[in-house]
Amino acid sequence: MKGKFIVFEGIDGSGKTTQLKLLGEKLAALGCPVLYTREPGGTRVGEKVRELLLNPQYGELVPRAEALLYAAARAQHVEQVILPALKQGKVVLCDRYIDSSLAYQGFGRGLDLSLLEQINRAATAGLIPDRVLLLDFCCDCGVDRISRSGRGADRIEREDQEFHRRVRRGYLTLAARDPQRYRVIDANRSIEEVQRDLIRALEGVLDAFPAGNNRS
Ligand code: TYD
Repeated sequence: MKGKFIVFEGIDGSGKTTQLKLLGEKLAALGCPVLYTREPGGTRVGEKVRELLLNPQYGELVPRAEALLYAAARAQHVEQVILPALKQGKVVLCDRYIDSSLAYQGFGRGLDLSLLEQINRAATAGLIPDRVLLLDFCCDCGVDRISRSGRGADRIEREDQEFHRRVRRGYLTLAARDPQRYRVIDANRSIEEVQRDLIRALEGVLDAFPAGNNRS
């Protein structure tokens, strides 16, 4: 049995994690075996790499090293967590994946996209998601949400507004390149409205959400 690999993407503060959990609860209630995971992280090694990547103490990290560290954490994650879960027929809900590297290290930092694609193809052995759900959110609102949350901003969140704008535009460019795989969801709305659109965006991918069954 083969599972499904669903990835949530979006700028910092776009509400991905909340939506991912809500969707997972709905799927679990329908009897789907669900696995939640996140990047960078999801494994013991990956969580260590995450610490290195997000701790503002390591401000000297250069873009190529940053891209390779994200890819290294991803390689561990694919092999140890994602592939085994897919083999068991689970629905894997993953908070960020390759598109985060293309958007942040590519459009944000200015690294060559084809180089990033190459690195990531190697890291993931070519595993690509069945669907990418892009939560499109206004940059200023994302920064506001992070400051309201009361936790300190991490190394990436500390980047300036222009960086986050490039990342957002990058995501939209990536989504426009492959409309079959991506769905763009306007996240500047209530949790319920966004969730309803997310479910619609999974029609045809998950049997739990057959077309035409989720119009309420
Ligand atoms: P995280 O706290 O998980 O962000 P959020 O909860 O907003 O999703 O931190 C992940 C950060 O790492 C986030 O700022 C995006 C960045 N990132 C990259 O720059 N490249 C990547 O490949 C990945 C996976 C994340």
